[in-house]
Amino acid sequence: SAAEKGGYDYFMLKEIVEQPRAVADTLLGRAGLDGTLTLDEMRLSPEDLRDVTKIVIIACGTSYHAGLIAKYAIEHWCRIPCEVEVASEFRYRDPILDPTTLVIAISQSGESMDTLMAVRYAREQRSRVLAICNVNGSTIPREADGVLYTHAGPEVGVAATKTFLTQLVACYLIGLYLAQVRGYKYGDEINAVIAQLAAMPDKVERVLDTVEPVRELARSLADAHCVLFLGRHVGYPVALEGALKLKELAYMHAEAFAAGELKHGPIALIEQDLPVVVVVPSREGRSVLHDKIVSNIQEIRARGARTIVIAEEGDDTVAPFADTLISIPRVPTLLQPVVASVPLQVFACELALAKGNDVDQPRNLAKSVTVE
Ligand code: G6P
Repeated sequence: SAAEKGGYDYFMLKEIVEQPRAVADTLLGRAGLDGTLTLDEMRLSPEDLRDVTKIVIIACGTSYHAGLIAKYAIEHWCRIPCEVEVASEFRYRDPILDPTTLVIAISQSGESMDTLMAVRYAREQRSRVLAICNVNGSTIPREADGVLYTHAGPEVGVAATKTFLTQLVACYLIGLYLAQVRGYKYGDEINAVIAQLAAMPDKVERVLDTVEPVRELARSLADAHCVLFLGRHVGYPVALEGALKLKELAYMHAEAFAAGELKHGPIALIEQDLPVVVVVPSREGRSVLHDKIVSNIQEIRARGARTIVIAEEGDDTVAPFADTLISIPRVPTLLQPVVASVPLQVFACELALAKGNDVDQPRNLAKSVTVE
């Protein structure tokens, strides 16, 4: 009913606007402004985490993209090698696991069969498994050694939105906690990031307040055949997630590339009027990447592409090369996916609506796939 949808036509629209609250709820009682983290509920003790030599993240779909972002954060903050793999590939390739490997299984539903089978396999190999889940008491957290719940509330739309943002927050919390427990290299940075996390709900709200031009853009592209997405560093998984959303909702060919790979092949795809979405890294601490992507934007624009550029507020270097400029608030580099993903959700949702698609129940998809 309309009431269940909070006055919106679709659950997805409601779930997109619920994101500031969802992010705040996932942080609640866990991250203190003074840099303290309280994750006792996780059921894994600091002792359990101190001897971890390797982290393996397994997940499917959107949850896999959260895992890809987590790798950048965890390796940087904790200096622990971290692999990320789609769950359906994991146990079939004889992966190297032992009791000092921490497996992190990310699953919104806690019921994806591919992820569940990977969890069981990892436990048979005597690795510890930590789940990141949204549904309390679901199968994966019950079978895991520990769990950190995302407190996004129920998500009805098949395409994940608020659960993705809260998965990112959960990944950050785990990465920061591991760094603290193990003694860390970037102490000041860790404490600053914990404090910055508290500001994320407001930053997401700001993105939502300024997102109307993205809707207009999406409607204008309803007849496009294909959209490309480029990003690098944590912007690369953001690009992958933007492309996945467009496939899921708009049934459109969409592909994402790491911007540095452009010259190794994908640039051959660039043609007149092709919409290309580019996620520009923040300038803070990553100015080399920022400048490289600005030259990528120039290259594709010189070949006639229609450039849709997501960049942080006040970044005037990209404006001259952007056919459409979407500004997002400045946040620490590793947290940028939390704000950069939101315009891409809105873009895919609005484009799908313009095509007349049901964004809550896209064709052929299920919210949770309980077969292998
Ligand atoms: C299905 C859904 C996706 C979701 C994936 C993983 O394919 O359609 O939206 O990302 O499952 O689901 P999970 O519940 O394990 O996160």
